[in-house]
Amino acid sequence: MERLVELEKMSFDDTSEEVTLRPSIWNDYIGQEKIKKNLQVFIKACKKREEVLDHILLFGPPGLGKTTLSHIIANQMESSIKVTAAPTIEKGGDLAAILTNLEEGDILFIDEIHRLSPAIEEILYPAMEDFRLDIIIGSGPAAQTVQIDLPKFTLIGATTRAGMLSNPLRDRFGMHFRLNFYTDNELAKIIDIASIKLEKESNKEASFEIARRSRGTPRVALRLLKRVRDFAEVEDEDTIDLHRCQYALDELGINDKGFDEMDLRLLELLLSNKGKPMGLSTIAAALSEDEGTLEEAIEPYLLANGYIQRTARGRVATVKSYELFRLTPPSQNNDIDLFNN
Ligand SMILES: Nc1ncnc2c1ncn2[C@@H]1O[C@H](COP(=O)(O)OP(=O)(O)OP(=O)(O)O)[C@@H](O)[C@H]1O
Ligand SMILES: [Mg+2]
Repeated sequence: MERLVELEKMSFDDTSEEVTLRPSIWNDYIGQEKIKKNLQVFIKACKKREEVLDHILLFGPPGLGKTTLSHIIANQMESSIKVTAAPTIEKGGDLAAILTNLEEGDILFIDEIHRLSPAIEEILYPAMEDFRLDIIIGSGPAAQTVQIDLPKFTLIGATTRAGMLSNPLRDRFGMHFRLNFYTDNELAKIIDIASIKLEKESNKEASFEIARRSRGTPRVALRLLKRVRDFAEVEDEDTIDLHRCQYALDELGINDKGFDEMDLRLLELLLSNKGKPMGLSTIAAALSEDEGTLEEAIEPYLLANGYIQRTARGRVATVKSYELFRLTPPSQNNDIDLFNN
């Protein structure tokens, strides 16, 4: 079944519509104020000194704007951006080809950077540090290293799983930015702007309603907006109002908190465990969901909003979840983790 609050990117990233809605200037990039402010200073300083920008690592759950931000950075630096993803860089030669094709000041964007193999990482280190490519020719005692100078470039690495990055790679990024979930107000602004671009303006209440149900994530907000727009279209309505919006979102099965079926199934599973922690692999098996997807895409929002907690012994539902489902939390003696906020 298709998840409405689908967090997987490829299928959606590639659609021209996501690209159309993707902001290309700072003013349209809503929220993440601290990151924006810092980056603006660094970019200004670099341009003044006519230097290339330090390498940047962007991390955070899917759909929060890492790719978008990278394009804006390139725009601001007036640099061209070459986009690639770690899983497509299989051999040393693949990376060497990418690096040698860069031009001075270019930005190289590597998505899912935690998925680079150790051998590829080794090639990347001197490239990042000294803009140098070490190529080994031959093997055994006769092997020779040839060094090629590379143009100065900026690497922007994006990942949903910063924890999986090796330390040496992480340390070679001069700037690290963690993207946070968005507030309802920020999402409502993003929806307002997008609805105008989509030529079906959403009114204030409707935008806020969609925002509330978007799991703090712009990609989800835009996806919901498009579905709501379809409902309005069919009803021959020129704008999106609260009534149509609520109707559409209810029809789509998006609950009041933005939880979709998978969130609810995860919470129900943990609640049924009566305060005892449950391991990730057990949860994955029970929900027939991949462990990586659970950790990367489903859990972060529930964790950030205090519905679940991660303990050394596994995941546990918090009092907030019991209250949401109108259940009585197990007594404190039953499980210590539950109340150890
Ligand atoms: N701060 C923002 N302001 C306005 N729109 C945004 C913002 N962040 C993201 N978006 C919108 O959400 C969509 C998804 O963002 P993006 O593709 O940049 O996420 P991502 O972090 O790269 O996700 P993934 O980890 O899946 O690659 C974008 O196409 C863009 O339209
Ligand atoms: Mg992306």
